[in-house]
Amino acid sequence: MDSEKQPLRLAVLASGRGSNLQAILDSIRDGDLFAKVVVVISDNPEAYALERARSQGIPAVAALPSAYTSKAEYEQQLLAASCEAYQAEVVVLAGYMRLLGSVFLTKYHNRVVNIHPALLPAFPGLHAHRQAIEYGVRFSGCTVHFVDQGMDTGPIILQAVVSVEPDDTEETLAERILIEEHRIYPQALELIARGKVRVEGRRVQIDSYTVTSIIHE
Ligand code: GRF
Repeated sequence: MDSEKQPLRLAVLASGRGSNLQAILDSIRDGDLFAKVVVVISDNPEAYALERARSQGIPAVAALPSAYTSKAEYEQQLLAASCEAYQAEVVVLAGYMRLLGSVFLTKYHNRVVNIHPALLPAFPGLHAHRQAIEYGVRFSGCTVHFVDQGMDTGPIILQAVVSVEPDDTEETLAERILIEEHRIYPQALELIARGKVRVEGRRVQIDSYTVTSIIHE
């Protein structure tokens, strides 16, 4: 049945190294994610994510916010020249270091997803690993969520848990969490690509979802 359908068209926004972008591309290559990355966009021309895109023949666009007079104008440009031009159906934030505003989120309502390196609603915003260590939690993890206008506040799709060890530094905790990010981000996108995800208010319903089916594969 799915063979008649087209892969989900993804625009990926990334500001940095793009390891989550790579995990998504690898999952697509391995047949675990029925999607296609149609464009990679960065607010940082030096972002390694752009290099990863180019090396796979994916259009890579650097759009500098400072070249525009307002955030609205910048987002209009991102929308028109990138996401819409490449007919992206879902926008994937993969280490994109800016808050998207209403221009973008109105157009792509409940079609923008993000990954955050903590168990939201704990430790939103910057330095999530540091926040978790300083707070003294025993467990942290990562969260894939739809993006709304708040800071890491949108409806939660998937989460994964890792332990926080007594001798963890920001770096060691980040490393442990990143492994889970690379696992659940493609998994969440695959659920969306298969039409299994519905947003109901602040809750996300996933067809045939059980916690154990996702955690113990
Ligand atoms: C990840 O830790 C992600 O959770 C956060 O930014 C980081 C991006 O890493 N939003 P990468 O660029 O995907 O390697």
